[in-house]
Amino acid sequence: AKAARGLADDLASTTLIATDKRVLMAPAMNVRMWLHPAVQANVARLATFPGPGVAFVGPDEGDMACGEFGPGRMAEPPAILDAIAAELAGPAARLLAGRRALVTAGPTFEPIDPVRGLTNRSSGKQGYAIAAALARRGAEVTLVSGPVALDAPPGVARVWVETALQMQAACQAALPADVAVMTAAVADWRPDQVATGKIKKAPGGPPSLALTENPDILAGLSAAGPRRPGLVVGFAAETEDLIGNARRKLSRKGCDWIVANDVSADVFGADGNAATLITAAGEESWPRQSKTALAGTLADRIARHFTGTPE
Ligand code: CTP
Repeated sequence: AKAARGLADDLASTTLIATDKRVLMAPAMNVRMWLHPAVQANVARLATFPGPGVAFVGPDEGDMACGEFGPGRMAEPPAILDAIAAELAGPAARLLAGRRALVTAGPTFEPIDPVRGLTNRSSGKQGYAIAAALARRGAEVTLVSGPVALDAPPGVARVWVETALQMQAACQAALPADVAVMTAAVADWRPDQVATGKIKKAPGGPPSLALTENPDILAGLSAAGPRRPGLVVGFAAETEDLIGNARRKLSRKGCDWIVANDVSADVFGADGNAATLITAAGEESWPRQSKTALAGTLADRIARHFTGTPE
Protein backbone atom coordinates (compact mmCIF):
# COMPACT_ATOMS: atom_id res chain seq x y z
CA ALA A 1 0.00 0.00 0.00
CA LYS A 2 2.81 2.39 0.86
CA ALA A 3 4.69 1.60 -2.34
CA ALA A 4 1.55 2.12 -4.42
CA ARG A 5 0.97 5.58 -2.90
CA GLY A 6 4.55 6.76 -2.46
CA LEU A 7 4.37 6.95 1.30
CA ALA A 8 7.90 6.95 2.73
CA ASP A 9 7.88 6.81 6.52
CA ASP A 10 10.28 3.97 7.28
CA LEU A 11 13.48 2.55 5.85
CA ALA A 12 11.85 0.02 3.48
CA SER A 13 9.26 2.38 2.01
CA THR A 14 11.85 5.18 1.79
CA THR A 15 14.18 2.87 -0.13
CA LEU A 16 11.38 2.00 -2.52
CA ILE A 17 10.65 5.67 -3.26
CA ALA A 18 14.35 6.60 -3.48
CA THR A 19 15.34 3.98 -6.02
CA ASP A 20 15.25 4.24 -9.80
CA LYS A 21 15.68 0.46 -10.14
CA ARG A 22 13.10 -2.16 -10.96
CA VAL A 23 11.41 -3.60 -7.88
CA LEU A 24 10.45 -7.25 -7.35
CA MET A 25 7.65 -7.75 -4.83
CA ALA A 26 7.06 -11.11 -3.14
CA PRO A 27 3.87 -10.39 -1.22
CA ALA A 28 2.79 -12.64 1.66
CA MET A 29 -0.23 -12.15 3.87
CA ASN A 30 -3.41 -13.73 5.16
CA VAL A 31 -5.75 -14.85 2.38
CA ARG A 32 -8.49 -12.35 3.29
CA MET A 33 -6.01 -9.51 3.41
CA TRP A 34 -4.58 -10.53 0.03
CA LEU A 35 -8.05 -10.78 -1.55
CA HIS A 36 -9.24 -7.47 -0.06
CA PRO A 37 -10.16 -5.02 -2.85
CA ALA A 38 -7.90 -2.37 -1.31
CA VAL A 39 -4.87 -4.68 -1.57
CA GLN A 40 -5.82 -5.88 -5.06
CA ALA A 41 -6.22 -2.25 -6.20
CA ASN A 42 -2.75 -1.44 -4.84
CA VAL A 43 -1.25 -4.45 -6.65
CA ALA A 44 -2.96 -3.42 -9.90
CA ARG A 45 -1.69 0.16 -9.45
CA LEU A 46 1.91 -0.99 -8.85
CA ALA A 47 1.76 -3.12 -11.98
CA THR A 48 0.95 -0.02 -14.08
CA PHE A 49 4.00 2.00 -12.93
CA PRO A 50 6.04 3.10 -15.95
CA GLY A 51 9.84 3.12 -16.14
CA PRO A 52 11.72 0.22 -14.61
CA GLY A 53 8.41 -0.85 -13.07
CA VAL A 54 7.37 -3.35 -10.47
CA ALA A 55 7.36 -7.14 -10.92
CA PHE A 56 5.68 -9.72 -8.72
CA VAL A 57 6.50 -13.27 -7.70
CA GLY A 58 3.71 -15.09 -5.88
CA PRO A 59 1.86 -15.24 -3.65
CA ASP A 60 1.27 -18.99 -3.71
CA GLU A 61 -1.84 -20.77 -2.60
CA GLY A 62 -1.74 -23.07 0.41
CA ASP A 63 -1.85 -23.40 4.19
CA MET A 64 -1.13 -20.24 6.13
CA ALA A 65 0.61 -19.86 9.46
CA CYS A 66 -2.68 -18.53 10.88
CA GLY A 67 -4.47 -21.78 10.01
CA GLU A 68 -6.39 -20.53 6.97
CA PHE A 69 -5.93 -21.73 3.39
CA GLY A 70 -5.73 -19.84 0.12
CA PRO A 71 -3.62 -17.43 -1.90
CA GLY A 72 -1.26 -15.39 0.25
CA ARG A 73 1.61 -17.75 1.05
CA MET A 74 5.01 -16.31 0.26
CA ALA A 75 6.39 -17.72 -3.00
CA GLU A 76 8.88 -20.55 -2.41
CA PRO A 77 12.40 -19.16 -1.94
CA PRO A 78 13.65 -21.06 -5.06
CA ALA A 79 10.87 -19.40 -7.09
CA ILE A 80 11.92 -15.98 -5.73
CA LEU A 81 15.53 -16.79 -6.59
CA ASP A 82 14.43 -17.78 -10.10
CA ALA A 83 12.51 -14.53 -10.46
CA ILE A 84 15.51 -12.49 -9.27
CA ALA A 85 17.79 -14.31 -11.71
CA ALA A 86 15.31 -13.70 -14.52
CA GLU A 87 15.07 -9.97 -13.66
CA LEU A 88 18.85 -9.54 -13.43
CA ALA A 89 19.64 -11.44 -16.60
CA GLY A 90 16.79 -9.85 -18.54
CA PRO A 91 15.92 -11.50 -21.82
CA ALA A 92 18.98 -13.77 -21.59
CA ALA A 93 17.32 -15.71 -18.76
CA ARG A 94 14.42 -16.48 -21.01
CA LEU A 95 16.33 -19.43 -22.40
CA LEU A 96 13.17 -21.16 -23.51
CA ALA A 97 11.64 -18.14 -25.25
CA GLY A 98 9.98 -19.22 -28.49
CA ARG A 99 9.73 -22.86 -27.30
CA ARG A 100 6.42 -24.58 -26.82
CA ALA A 101 6.04 -26.89 -23.84
CA LEU A 102 3.36 -29.41 -22.93
CA VAL A 103 3.05 -30.54 -19.32
CA THR A 104 0.59 -33.06 -17.88
CA ALA A 105 -0.17 -33.02 -14.17
CA GLY A 106 -2.44 -34.40 -11.49
CA PRO A 107 -4.46 -37.60 -11.46
CA THR A 108 -7.08 -38.74 -13.90
CA PHE A 109 -10.56 -39.63 -12.69
CA GLU A 110 -12.38 -42.47 -14.41
CA PRO A 111 -16.09 -42.44 -13.60
CA ILE A 112 -17.89 -45.63 -12.58
CA ASP A 113 -21.26 -43.92 -12.26
CA PRO A 114 -22.31 -40.30 -11.59
CA VAL A 115 -21.03 -40.41 -8.00
CA ARG A 116 -18.06 -42.81 -8.04
CA GLY A 117 -14.81 -43.24 -9.86
CA LEU A 118 -11.30 -44.68 -10.02
CA THR A 119 -8.42 -42.33 -9.48
CA ASN A 120 -4.75 -42.13 -8.47
CA ARG A 121 -3.05 -40.25 -5.69
CA SER A 122 -1.46 -37.09 -7.05
CA SER A 123 -1.53 -33.53 -5.76
CA GLY A 124 -0.29 -32.13 -9.08
CA LYS A 125 2.29 -30.00 -7.23
CA GLN A 126 5.34 -31.31 -9.11
CA GLY A 127 3.75 -30.87 -12.54
CA TYR A 128 2.43 -27.41 -11.74
CA ALA A 129 5.87 -26.39 -10.44
CA ILE A 130 7.45 -27.61 -13.71
CA ALA A 131 4.91 -25.70 -15.81
CA ALA A 132 5.69 -22.57 -13.77
CA ALA A 133 9.47 -23.05 -14.09
CA LEU A 134 9.26 -23.52 -17.88
CA ALA A 135 7.04 -20.42 -18.18
CA ARG A 136 9.49 -18.36 -16.08
CA ARG A 137 12.17 -19.29 -18.62
CA GLY A 138 10.04 -17.93 -21.42
CA ALA A 139 8.37 -21.08 -22.79
CA GLU A 140 4.81 -21.01 -24.03
CA VAL A 141 3.30 -23.65 -21.73
CA THR A 142 0.12 -25.70 -22.05
CA LEU A 143 -0.68 -27.51 -18.81
CA VAL A 144 -3.09 -30.41 -19.24
CA SER A 145 -4.37 -31.02 -15.74
CA GLY A 146 -6.53 -33.61 -14.06
CA PRO A 147 -8.62 -32.58 -11.05
CA VAL A 148 -6.40 -30.83 -8.47
CA ALA A 149 -6.83 -27.93 -6.05
CA LEU A 150 -4.11 -25.66 -7.47
CA ASP A 151 -4.12 -22.31 -9.25
CA ALA A 152 -2.71 -22.19 -12.77
CA PRO A 153 0.81 -20.68 -12.58
CA PRO A 154 1.20 -17.19 -14.10
CA GLY A 155 1.48 -17.20 -17.87
CA VAL A 156 0.48 -20.87 -18.23
CA ALA A 157 -2.50 -21.98 -20.34
CA ARG A 158 -4.32 -24.67 -18.38
CA VAL A 159 -6.63 -27.23 -19.98
CA TRP A 160 -8.79 -29.10 -17.46
CA VAL A 161 -9.46 -32.78 -18.12
CA GLU A 162 -10.95 -35.58 -16.08
CA THR A 163 -10.28 -38.91 -17.79
CA ALA A 164 -7.20 -40.43 -19.46
CA LEU A 165 -8.95 -40.33 -22.84
CA GLN A 166 -9.61 -36.61 -22.41
CA MET A 167 -6.00 -36.07 -21.31
CA GLN A 168 -4.75 -37.88 -24.39
CA ALA A 169 -6.97 -35.79 -26.69
CA ALA A 170 -5.89 -32.55 -24.98
CA CYS A 171 -2.21 -33.51 -25.42
CA GLN A 172 -2.71 -34.22 -29.12
CA ALA A 173 -4.46 -30.85 -29.48
CA ALA A 174 -1.54 -29.07 -27.77
CA LEU A 175 0.94 -30.26 -30.45
CA PRO A 176 3.27 -29.24 -31.95
CA ALA A 177 5.51 -28.84 -28.92
CA ASP A 178 9.27 -28.67 -28.50
CA VAL A 179 9.20 -30.44 -25.16
CA ALA A 180 6.64 -32.57 -23.34
CA VAL A 181 6.93 -33.32 -19.63
CA MET A 182 4.48 -35.96 -18.48
CA THR A 183 4.02 -35.92 -14.73
CA ALA A 184 0.37 -36.97 -14.60
CA ALA A 185 -0.61 -40.01 -12.58
CA VAL A 186 -2.81 -41.51 -15.27
CA ALA A 187 -5.21 -44.23 -14.11
CA ASP A 188 -4.08 -47.44 -15.78
CA TRP A 189 -7.65 -48.70 -16.20
CA ARG A 190 -11.13 -47.31 -16.65
CA PRO A 191 -14.47 -49.03 -16.16
CA ASP A 192 -15.65 -50.74 -19.33
CA GLN A 193 -18.97 -49.04 -19.01
CA VAL A 194 -20.05 -45.95 -17.14
CA ALA A 195 -23.46 -46.40 -15.49
CA THR A 196 -25.76 -43.50 -16.32
CA GLY A 197 -27.51 -43.71 -12.93
CA LYS A 198 -26.05 -44.28 -9.47
CA ILE A 199 -25.40 -48.01 -8.96
CA LYS A 200 -27.48 -49.08 -5.94
CA LYS A 201 -26.41 -51.53 -3.26
CA ALA A 202 -28.07 -54.85 -3.98
CA PRO A 203 -28.68 -57.92 -1.81
CA GLY A 204 -26.50 -59.98 -4.14
CA GLY A 205 -23.39 -58.11 -2.95
CA PRO A 206 -21.15 -55.57 -4.66
CA PRO A 207 -21.11 -55.29 -8.45
CA SER A 208 -18.12 -56.59 -10.42
CA LEU A 209 -16.29 -53.95 -12.36
CA ALA A 210 -14.98 -54.87 -15.79
CA LEU A 211 -11.98 -52.67 -16.62
CA THR A 212 -10.38 -51.59 -19.89
CA GLU A 213 -6.77 -50.46 -20.15
CA ASN A 214 -6.25 -46.76 -20.72
CA PRO A 215 -3.94 -45.59 -23.50
CA ASP A 216 -0.38 -44.79 -22.47
CA ILE A 217 -0.22 -41.08 -23.23
CA LEU A 218 3.56 -40.83 -22.81
CA ALA A 219 4.23 -43.81 -25.11
CA GLY A 220 1.75 -42.40 -27.64
CA LEU A 221 3.47 -39.00 -27.74
CA SER A 222 6.89 -40.65 -28.00
CA ALA A 223 5.68 -42.49 -31.10
CA ALA A 224 3.84 -39.53 -32.63
CA GLY A 225 5.98 -39.57 -35.78
CA PRO A 226 6.52 -36.13 -37.29
CA ARG A 227 4.41 -34.57 -34.53
CA ARG A 228 6.62 -36.02 -31.79
CA PRO A 229 7.99 -33.30 -29.48
CA GLY A 230 11.77 -32.98 -29.84
CA LEU A 231 12.28 -33.86 -26.18
CA VAL A 232 9.85 -36.18 -24.38
CA VAL A 233 10.28 -36.49 -20.61
CA GLY A 234 8.45 -39.03 -18.49
CA PHE A 235 8.28 -39.56 -14.76
CA ALA A 236 8.60 -42.91 -13.04
CA ALA A 237 7.19 -43.40 -9.61
CA GLU A 238 8.81 -46.51 -8.17
CA THR A 239 8.92 -48.20 -4.80
CA GLU A 240 11.75 -50.66 -5.60
CA ASP A 241 14.72 -51.04 -7.99
CA LEU A 242 14.32 -47.37 -8.90
CA ILE A 243 17.00 -47.15 -11.59
CA GLY A 244 16.34 -50.57 -13.16
CA ASN A 245 12.61 -50.04 -13.39
CA ALA A 246 12.99 -46.48 -14.65
CA ARG A 247 15.47 -47.51 -17.33
CA ARG A 248 13.13 -50.26 -18.54
CA LYS A 249 10.31 -47.67 -18.57
CA LEU A 250 12.48 -45.34 -20.68
CA SER A 251 12.95 -47.94 -23.39
CA ARG A 252 9.42 -49.38 -23.16
CA LYS A 253 7.82 -45.96 -23.54
CA GLY A 254 10.27 -44.61 -26.12
CA CYS A 255 10.80 -41.28 -24.33
CA ASP A 256 14.13 -39.41 -24.15
CA TRP A 257 14.43 -38.83 -20.43
CA ILE A 258 12.87 -40.29 -17.31
CA VAL A 259 12.82 -38.48 -14.00
CA ALA A 260 12.78 -41.34 -11.51
CA ASN A 261 11.12 -40.75 -8.18
CA ASP A 262 11.42 -43.00 -5.17
CA VAL A 263 7.89 -42.96 -3.76
CA SER A 264 8.53 -45.50 -1.01
CA ALA A 265 8.95 -42.56 1.41
CA ASP A 266 6.80 -39.49 1.97
CA VAL A 267 6.23 -37.90 -1.47
CA PHE A 268 2.51 -37.69 -2.16
CA GLY A 269 1.26 -34.21 -1.30
CA ALA A 270 4.61 -33.39 0.32
CA ASP A 271 6.75 -30.44 -0.71
CA GLY A 272 10.03 -32.34 -0.97
CA ASN A 273 11.21 -34.69 -3.69
CA ALA A 274 14.48 -36.45 -4.61
CA ALA A 275 14.99 -37.70 -8.14
CA THR A 276 17.36 -39.30 -10.62
CA LEU A 277 17.42 -38.11 -14.23
CA ILE A 278 17.88 -41.02 -16.59
CA THR A 279 18.93 -40.38 -20.19
CA ALA A 280 20.48 -42.51 -22.91
CA ALA A 281 23.84 -41.06 -21.84
CA GLY A 282 23.63 -41.90 -18.15
CA GLU A 283 22.22 -40.90 -14.80
CA GLU A 284 22.23 -37.76 -12.68
CA SER A 285 21.16 -37.81 -9.06
CA TRP A 286 19.35 -34.79 -7.77
CA PRO A 287 19.30 -34.53 -3.97
CA ARG A 288 16.07 -34.13 -2.01
CA GLN A 289 14.84 -30.59 -2.59
CA SER A 290 11.52 -28.78 -2.71
CA LYS A 291 9.29 -29.58 -5.67
CA THR A 292 9.78 -25.97 -6.81
CA ALA A 293 13.56 -26.35 -6.72
CA LEU A 294 13.39 -29.70 -8.53
CA ALA A 295 11.20 -28.09 -11.19
CA GLY A 296 13.85 -25.37 -11.64
CA THR A 297 16.61 -27.99 -11.92
CA LEU A 298 14.65 -29.85 -14.61
CA ALA A 299 13.73 -26.66 -16.48
CA ASP A 300 17.40 -25.57 -16.50
CA ARG A 301 18.37 -29.02 -17.77
CA ILE A 302 15.78 -28.74 -20.55
CA ALA A 303 17.05 -25.26 -21.46
CA ARG A 304 20.62 -26.62 -21.62
CA HIS A 305 19.42 -29.37 -23.93
CA PHE A 306 17.98 -26.83 -26.36
CA THR A 307 20.85 -24.33 -26.19
CA GLY A 308 23.29 -27.14 -26.89
CA THR A 309 25.31 -26.53 -23.73
CA PRO A 310 27.18 -29.78 -22.97
CA GLU A 311 24.95 -32.13 -20.99
N1 CTP B 1 1.83 -42.34 -18.24
C1 CTP B 1 1.02 -41.92 -19.29
N2 CTP B 1 -0.12 -42.60 -19.58
C2 CTP B 1 -0.47 -43.70 -18.88
C3 CTP B 1 0.36 -44.15 -17.82
C4 CTP B 1 1.50 -43.44 -17.53
O1 CTP B 1 1.34 -40.92 -19.93
N3 CTP B 1 -1.58 -44.34 -19.20
C5 CTP B 1 3.09 -41.62 -17.97
C6 CTP B 1 3.15 -40.89 -16.65
O2 CTP B 1 2.70 -39.56 -16.78
C7 CTP B 1 4.63 -40.95 -16.34
C8 CTP B 1 5.07 -42.27 -16.94
O3 CTP B 1 4.08 -42.59 -17.91
O4 CTP B 1 5.35 -39.93 -17.00
C9 CTP B 1 5.24 -43.40 -16.00
O5 CTP B 1 4.12 -43.57 -15.18
P1 CTP B 1 4.05 -44.78 -14.12
O6 CTP B 1 2.74 -44.73 -13.43
O7 CTP B 1 5.29 -44.79 -13.32
O8 CTP B 1 4.13 -46.00 -15.13
P2 CTP B 1 3.16 -47.11 -15.61
O9 CTP B 1 3.14 -47.10 -17.10
O10 CTP B 1 1.84 -47.06 -14.94
O11 CTP B 1 3.99 -48.40 -15.20
P3 CTP B 1 3.92 -49.40 -13.95
O12 CTP B 1 2.49 -49.42 -13.51
O13 CTP B 1 4.40 -50.67 -14.56
O14 CTP B 1 4.89 -48.86 -12.96
